[in-house]
Amino acid sequence: MTLPGKVTIYEVGPRDGLQNESALVPTHVKAEFVRRLLAAGLPVVEATSFVHPEWVPQLADAAELMAELGEAGRDLPVLVPNERGLDRALELGLKHIAIFGSATETFAQRNLNRGLEDQFAMFEPTVRRAREAGLDVRAYVSMCFGDPWEGEVPIDQVVEVGKRLFDLGAGQLSLGDTIGVGTAGHVTDLVEAFVAAGMDRDHLAMHFHDTYGQALANAYSALQAGITTFDASAGGLGGCPYAKSATGNLATEDLVWMLTGLGIEHGVDLTQVVTTSVWMAGKLGRPSPSAVVRALAESPA
Ligand code: HMG
Ligand code: MG
Repeated sequence: MTLPGKVTIYEVGPRDGLQNESALVPTHVKAEFVRRLLAAGLPVVEATSFVHPEWVPQLADAAELMAELGEAGRDLPVLVPNERGLDRALELGLKHIAIFGSATETFAQRNLNRGLEDQFAMFEPTVRRAREAGLDVRAYVSMCFGDPWEGEVPIDQVVEVGKRLFDLGAGQLSLGDTIGVGTAGHVTDLVEAFVAAGMDRDHLAMHFHDTYGQALANAYSALQAGITTFDASAGGLGGCPYAKSATGNLATEDLVWMLTGLGIEHGVDLTQVVTTSVWMAGKLGRPSPSAVVRALAESPA
């Protein structure tokens, strides 16, 4: 099995990480977090969400954050669920948005206040207008492996929803294991099902949460299946306020450690990310759940 020579890490700590924290992080701390991650060599840092501020109060300062980040912020992707979110992003001159659909009915209702079918009516004009304005669009699909209310999610259902979201005009589809129940064989089956349905592997990204400690094994399985973009969160922060039992994302440091060991190019300075996560853990008042952060913070390699 040949592994890819190079991988892109799509950092979601400031968005997926901070959306689930009970503490409200001041805007200037978030800006510093984003700047430190960029300085550590992360090629993409998803900065925040233009969702309803009452739905995710942790990220209600999205406009202030992007203003504080200035020119550097314009190249960073932000989550946008609908046309109202797109308008807010356009006002700030942002160039990359990510829509986020659900593979299941229950999570669509809980996360988007829409049914599975109705989510497309919300995303279609959002993506069309974004593309007309020259923006680049990523599409997430959540609950690709299991859903806390519906159990295991059939692969055909995930492929159908994912392809429909991608075909709206996205450049990349990120497959989310929102509650971290996926296992390595399931990852291979899902990737192969998307490929069999006509998706190019280069258009797929994997988004693992580490609830059951499977995220790194799943990432390795996806690498073997030819995936070259991985979402990860500095220090393993993360979760979804609307998905019971969703915990932290795959930690960026754990992924970087494995990729380095495999000789796969990633361009990230591990020491700088660890230092950033330790600093952020201090701000949040709790230690990072990442094993690599703990090991390196105690005795730097
Ligand atoms: P809704 O209440 O159905 O919205 O919420 P609406 O369209 O009926 O509008 C109601 C009011 O909200 C209107 O104001 C709108 O203007 C306003 P009014 O006219 O009554 O004064 N409004 C907004 N305001 C600011 N920004 C907006 C916006 N939209 C409407 N964008 C909505 C629907 C989708 C907005 C809501 O359900 C929502 O914000 N959901 C977001 C939930 C969320 O952020 N979840 C976490 C991210 S997903 C995730 O973490 C998974 C992921 O990591 C992948 C994985 O792990 O699988 C991506
Ligand atoms: Mg997530």
